[in-house]
Amino acid sequence: MPKLIIANWKTNPATVVEAMRLARAEDRAGVVIAPPSAFLAAVEATTKRAALGAQDVSREKRGAHTGEVAPSMLRSLGVRYVIVGHSERRARGETDEEVNEKVKAVLAARLVPVLCVGESWVVRKKGFPAAKKFVSGQLRADLKGVRAKNVIVAYEPVWAIGSGKADSPEEAAEMARFVKKSFVPRVLYGGSVTPKNASAFLKERAIDGALVGGASLKPSDFKKILSHVPTR
Ligand code: PGA
Repeated sequence: MPKLIIANWKTNPATVVEAMRLARAEDRAGVVIAPPSAFLAAVEATTKRAALGAQDVSREKRGAHTGEVAPSMLRSLGVRYVIVGHSERRARGETDEEVNEKVKAVLAARLVPVLCVGESWVVRKKGFPAAKKFVSGQLRADLKGVRAKNVIVAYEPVWAIGSGKADSPEEAAEMARFVKKSFVPRVLYGGSVTPKNASAFLKERAIDGALVGGASLKPSDFKKILSHVPTR
């Protein structure tokens, strides 16, 4: 399976003009651009090769839910992938139960959920088995009643996100193999992926791509990361 690189822009850039410029620079096959929802339509109109992703979604289909964006709305804008359960959303109080409902809502709209899981440093410092146990608990709760084969999982240790301290490629690959035991076919790694370390992660057979935050805001860094995607 070809490797997938997802650019998670988070709450950046500040204007739609900048978003279009960034989208043009990152418009490559095998890339998913996940801009803020305000810029989805503009990014879709600007790109030809990259696929479109959303950073979050409502679990509601329609109705009186001020501020929420439903999966069918994303689909109608050309979105194919939806990030669900990112640790920055969980940190704002999103529970496994909500994440599970979102995964189901995304699948019901015939979109692909990219479910983020990963342990905090408090857990990881107890050792790798503790991290596995934590991740398996998240998978059990978040994928309850879901056919795992339709889901992409991004393993993103919380302590590695935006910290400049990525996990080791060997341990990330071990976690990816562990996640695949739950019948998830594709597992990405995320957390401080840079032009320097990308090749080591992307060389791992068990790792099917990367979820890139900070480095996706710098086109030159992002292009360097893409240059490490194995050609087959
Ligand atoms: P980072 O973010 O690459 O800036 O660590 C990754 C993510 O949060 O998905």
